[in-house]
Amino acid sequence: MKGIILAGGKGTRLYPMTKVISKQLLPIYDKPMIYYPLSVLLLAGIKEILIISTEEDLPMYQKLLGDGSRLGISISYEVQKQPRGLAEAFIIGEKFIGDDNVCLVLGDNVFYGSTLQEKVVAASSLESGAIIFGSLVEDPTQFGVVEFDEDFNALSLEEKPTKPKSNWAVPGLYFYDNEVIEIAKTICPSARGELEITAVNNEYLKRKKLKIITLGRGIAWLDTGTAKGLSQAGAFVQTIQERQGYYISCIEEIAWRQGFIDDEQLFNLGRELQMTEYGKYIMSLVK
Ligand code: DAU
Repeated sequence: MKGIILAGGKGTRLYPMTKVISKQLLPIYDKPMIYYPLSVLLLAGIKEILIISTEEDLPMYQKLLGDGSRLGISISYEVQKQPRGLAEAFIIGEKFIGDDNVCLVLGDNVFYGSTLQEKVVAASSLESGAIIFGSLVEDPTQFGVVEFDEDFNALSLEEKPTKPKSNWAVPGLYFYDNEVIEIAKTICPSARGELEITAVNNEYLKRKKLKIITLGRGIAWLDTGTAKGLSQAGAFVQTIQERQGYYISCIEEIAWRQGFIDDEQLFNLGRELQMTEYGKYIMSLVK
């Protein structure tokens, strides 16, 4: 399974914060936002990753993460010229995906919880069809919304409905078989002119190949779409890290725990950042 992180868009909802910096590079407490979705792919065991962003912002992601070899993974990069919708990721990433299955994670989605890894590992072993997630939210009107029966069979999927049929929002984490490329090429742009991920998911639903997994109470899916949400996400990360002493979405730690890098490589990554608590934490893992 390959992984795509979509980190483009204009970030207008966070202006003026994102006027000159890409949204997915903004800090959530002590690390750039993109570390959080990247850590989800690493937890799923995905080592071949494509980052898609704007022409202007892509060099900054390259500077931050390089070719991935320092984490024992491979990262490549592609430009999305215009924000033509999430599903365009599969058209831009066609060559990268090749004959594989693919996981798409949005660069601004933050997940945390004890059962997260088992859920994404299970999803990454998908053989055919698609797997999406459902997360309970108070106000689902700003998200994709899924309605399902007691056996978790999806009944309907709607993008930002004014009258949602359920409180189950669909987070920005999706697992697909290779047919997603062909589906992304055939869906039509929505009224707002975008190739919607919900249209892709609806096609899988039509083909009876869509599975829903609920995230449950134990997993936090945090909103970073507003200044308030961003600040709350930062406070959440700080609180957990200071209380438990475990870091959230420390990509170096996850790469090491997954066996992608060894003790020495981890220690060296920590030493480069030893002036920070983050770097000291990484070095302490080896000791
Ligand atoms: O966060 C989950 C939600 O993400 C889902 O529930 C919705 O079904 C899905 O459509 C999406 O809704 P958003 O309104 O949050 O999508 P937004 O346009 O904000 O884009 C999400 C991220 O993807 C954002 O960080 C910018 C980036 N993006 C967006 C578009 C449209 C791109 O890189 N390229 C694009 O063309």
